[in-house]
Amino acid sequence: MKILAIETSCDDTCVAVLEINKQKVKILSNIVSSQAEIHKKYGGIYPTMAIREHQKNLEPVLKKALGKAKLSKFRKPNIDAVAVTIGPGLEPCLWVGVNFAKELSCLWDLPIIPVNHIEAHILANWLPPDIKIPARNASRSDAGGQNTKYLFPAICLVVSGGHTQLILMKGIGKYKILGETRDDAAGECFDKTARILGLDYPGGPAISAEAAKLQTINYKLQTKLPRPMLHSKDYDFSFSGLKTAVLYDFKKRPEKTARSKKYIQEMCREIQQAIIDVLIFKTIKAAKQYKAKSIILGGGVTANKELRRQFNHKLQTINYKLKFLVPPKIFCTDNAAMIAITAYYHKNQKTKNWKNIKVNANLKV
Ligand code: KG4
Ligand code: ZN
Repeated sequence: MKILAIETSCDDTCVAVLEINKQKVKILSNIVSSQAEIHKKYGGIYPTMAIREHQKNLEPVLKKALGKAKLSKFRKPNIDAVAVTIGPGLEPCLWVGVNFAKELSCLWDLPIIPVNHIEAHILANWLPPDIKIPARNASRSDAGGQNTKYLFPAICLVVSGGHTQLILMKGIGKYKILGETRDDAAGECFDKTARILGLDYPGGPAISAEAAKLQTINYKLQTKLPRPMLHSKDYDFSFSGLKTAVLYDFKKRPEKTARSKKYIQEMCREIQQAIIDVLIFKTIKAAKQYKAKSIILGGGVTANKELRRQFNHKLQTINYKLKFLVPPKIFCTDNAAMIAITAYYHKNQKTKNWKNIKVNANLKV
């Protein structure tokens, strides 16, 4: 089947067309129009601007996606359904995408499949070319596809600008949230601390780039940041204290030191490491407790090179074998291809009952 998907939950306007048949995925187009340049001067997402940009961009992004997929831009395209993110995310931004999907669905007389953004970040792991994706009943041991029987139960770590969640996944569509952040998300912590240090938005890539510049291998950082909730008994996270610790340290330094390259690079290395330490420790602890067969990552923060490297390294040092799945970087950050593949797994939820499709900013898996 061919699915056209729309994603506008945050600050990227995304449209993709996927063809999925017999557990094979073909990405016909995957267009992401980033608003980062616009939000840069505010150091974070400015919701009114995000809504305006989604409204302005959706039509040209749709035309580009249809063109790239070699589908008609003027008549009803040859697709079977329209998929759209209904949550979680910024409510007014979600409505822009949902209303656009309703208009297309009405115009082309096609059903809509509503999609959960967090689940989509997990299923983005099945987007790379030439892999056999799990069957829709993939929690069964005979389900086939990508060695599925060796994957579940899995522990999923979804880390983005708005979310940090540890999820027990028993199969496609079978999730239980084990823990989540009590305040800021990990990506939000990257974004806010980057702003304190005078770096660009989005903060994750900016901090990672500065951290990588630090040459000294055995450097001795002047500040040791906290690893919040590292040893708490639950699987919750908290990152707002980390941000405050960075702010206090930055403010107590003389202006010249706080603006120096060395200080910024050291601080970035320590912020990144504090976040990585907590994420890896808690994920592996959950994997051991739930006897997981795999660890599955997703969300913008999982594009982080050091996080990926250190996860891989740590998994080689523990005494039992865990499969490790992380999407290629382009599928970690927001995109509509992940919305389309998730819709495929929930195609029985397709509907033309448009008034029943509503957004939910706090939607859970
Ligand atoms: O999943 P995503 O694109 O959007 C949301 O659903 O929020 O994630 C965006 C977040 C931002 O906070 C951004 O700073 C972070 O992902 N991010 C990174 C990296 N690339 C993006 N964080 C750390 N390292 C990166 N390389
Ligand atoms: Zn996201």
